[in-house]
Amino acid sequence: MSLTRLFSVDGKAALVTGAASGLGRAMAEALAENGARVVLVDRDNAALADIVARMNGAGRQVLGVEADVTDLPSVEDAVAQSEAAFGGLDICVANAGISDPDRARLHESSTESWRATIDVNLNGVFHTNRAALRVMVRQGHGKIINVASMWGHVGPAGLFPRPAYAASKGAVVNLTRELALEYAGSGIQVNAICPGFFRTEGRPRSEDAARLMADYTPMKRLAEADEIKGTLLYLASAASDFVTGTSLVIDGGVLAR
Ligand SMILES: NC(=O)c1ccc[n+]([C@@H]2O[C@H](COP(=O)([O-])OP(=O)(O)OC[C@H]3O[C@@H](n4cnc5c(N)ncnc54)[C@H](O)[C@@H]3O)[C@@H](O)[C@H]2O)c1
Repeated sequence: MSLTRLFSVDGKAALVTGAASGLGRAMAEALAENGARVVLVDRDNAALADIVARMNGAGRQVLGVEADVTDLPSVEDAVAQSEAAFGGLDICVANAGISDPDRARLHESSTESWRATIDVNLNGVFHTNRAALRVMVRQGHGKIINVASMWGHVGPAGLFPRPAYAASKGAVVNLTRELALEYAGSGIQVNAICPGFFRTEGRPRSEDAARLMADYTPMKRLAEADEIKGTLLYLASAASDFVTGTSLVIDGGVLAR
């Protein structure tokens, strides 16, 4: 197989959650620019409509579906729309995520902050993975890509406290391993991407925070959102057909310490 075919996603049906901004948008672009038909899912309908219009205007085959990943029926509806529009679901990227609204150590943080973070970052991934797997098991093939974080492997408190974020991302890393095993014989690969510090619309929140993150990173810089595209295309294509249950860390060297 040629290298171009090995990494191809041409004609594949894909779905990306949290696709209206940041890493989700970059990954949806990577798939669509390389010939995949993509359902973009987000709860921010205005931003979603804007990016979908721009991508369709550039000749991509994309569909926007407003959905909140914490709401199971709306996630199931988004997956059903992918099947109806594109005839199946080959690639599912569970990317939507938030940070602890409270930004405090655990004893000072609220129950609401904990629940809100777990609801998006863990329950949202559960909703998205299960809905996608139901289609993929029927098809006999598929690629699930969960976006966790380097903070799914180590705690962030050396820099800032994010208790629910750390718990949720660690859970996504281990859920990914569990699902990889459950579906290894079903033609479905389940992997995670664990980003370090990326510059996106929401992050970092200030230039001071950006400096702190760059200082903490051995490469002494933040990544740009587009730098996730290569990893995504690897995990979404036949190039990774023997790869399952892994977490690919893109962090400028943080976890190598
Ligand atoms: N940017 C980073 O440095 C970084 C580092 C590690 C991990 N991550 C992870 O990458 C993912 C994307 O991060 P980002 O920086 O691009 O974030 P972002 O805030 O720029 O974008 C997140 C998108 O998800 C959407 N979203 C949030 N909650 C949702 C919900 N309940 N239902 C549907 N959509 C929802 C938002 O509307 C937004 O469009 C997250 O899971 C995040 O934890 C990001």
